[in-house]
Amino acid sequence: MSAIAWIKSLEWHQQLAFLIGIGATGSAGWTVYKLLRRRGKKRNLADLVICITGATGGLGRALAETLRERRVARIILTGRNREALQQLIAHLQLIGDVLAAPVVIEMDLLELDTLPGKARDILAVYGRIDVLIHNAGISCRGGVMDTDFAVDLQVMKTNYLAPVLLTKGLLPSMVERGGGCIVAVSSIQGRLAIPFRAAYAASKHSLQAFFDCLRAELWDANVDIVVVSPGYIKTGLSLRALRGKGNAHGKMDEATANGMEARQVAERIVRAIEDREREVLMCGLLPRLALILRSSFPSLYFGQMAKRAKQLKHLERA
Ligand SMILES: NC(=O)c1ccc[n+]([C@@H]2O[C@H](COP(=O)([O-])OP(=O)(O)OC[C@H]3O[C@@H](n4cnc5c(N)ncnc54)[C@H](OP(=O)(O)O)[C@@H]3O)[C@@H](O)[C@H]2O)c1
Repeated sequence: MSAIAWIKSLEWHQQLAFLIGIGATGSAGWTVYKLLRRRGKKRNLADLVICITGATGGLGRALAETLRERRVARIILTGRNREALQQLIAHLQLIGDVLAAPVVIEMDLLELDTLPGKARDILAVYGRIDVLIHNAGISCRGGVMDTDFAVDLQVMKTNYLAPVLLTKGLLPSMVERGGGCIVAVSSIQGRLAIPFRAAYAASKHSLQAFFDCLRAELWDANVDIVVVSPGYIKTGLSLRALRGKGNAHGKMDEATANGMEARQVAERIVRAIEDREREVLMCGLLPRLALILRSSFPSLYFGQMAKRAKQLKHLERA
């Protein structure tokens, strides 16, 4: 009797128990496989040179704190606000006892022409770079028709084109040295497009696609690519988000205020670097179900998004 015929011959509750058994065995096997795989190739962070973009606050600052607690001595912090970065260094010096002070490189990601030179500056600090964390980012609010192209461009430059340029500047040295890791902090909106966030979602979808392509191209280079897709994080992202005319949104959205702690996300990202993971999805059940809807039942997803747009139109166009 074939396996299918045997399953068909069972009572419905026996079939259900059989499927649950297969599922449980499969997921237990997968967990054991992942644990064994991690143990075999864990990265030792303390020896590495790690650069974080957008370290002036939010998740970037939390990443610096987390790395410092892991006794990473050679941290390069980049951002636009030198004062905020200097304050962060003073704070970090209290965390890591005798470790050397992190180094600051001022960098405005909107000035794309300067980024190849900034990549050289990053390399010059310690003569190498082991981990590059593309964390800096900006969000936006507003409908496509109400958003100036200058805003689309600013979001795209910050969230997508600048990481591409910095990667092109730093990746060759990682490949030559025979290893490294690049982390792209994307968002669940890099995988799900929701209304009134077109520029942000498009920039994060681009980031995801770029690094998925690159990961495959680096199959034999020992350079890991980690794309991180968090849901809401409790930071000032929504305060600084751009509205259609380029002015700041200036409000803490409820979803952001109730989001994950930045430190929780930072610790998960650091673990992913250590464990050489390729992708991290940090969100609740609803976005996970939405991901399934988007890929397997797109019409249902489009319907839900249209409903959401209708509900939010007065708020988002204001
Ligand atoms: N918060 C969330 O709900 C959430 C959810 C998913 C993903 N993310 C992603 O997480 C990352 C960190 O965001 P966050 O939540 O920590 O927000 P945040 O507190 O607003 O931090 C954003 C960082 O990016 C920097 N930045 C923005 N534009 C820049 C530019 N032109 N040049 C250089 N640096 C620039 C900011 O520096 P300045 O101080 O100079 O502005 C700041 O350090 C972003 O990529 C974001 O898309 C956030």
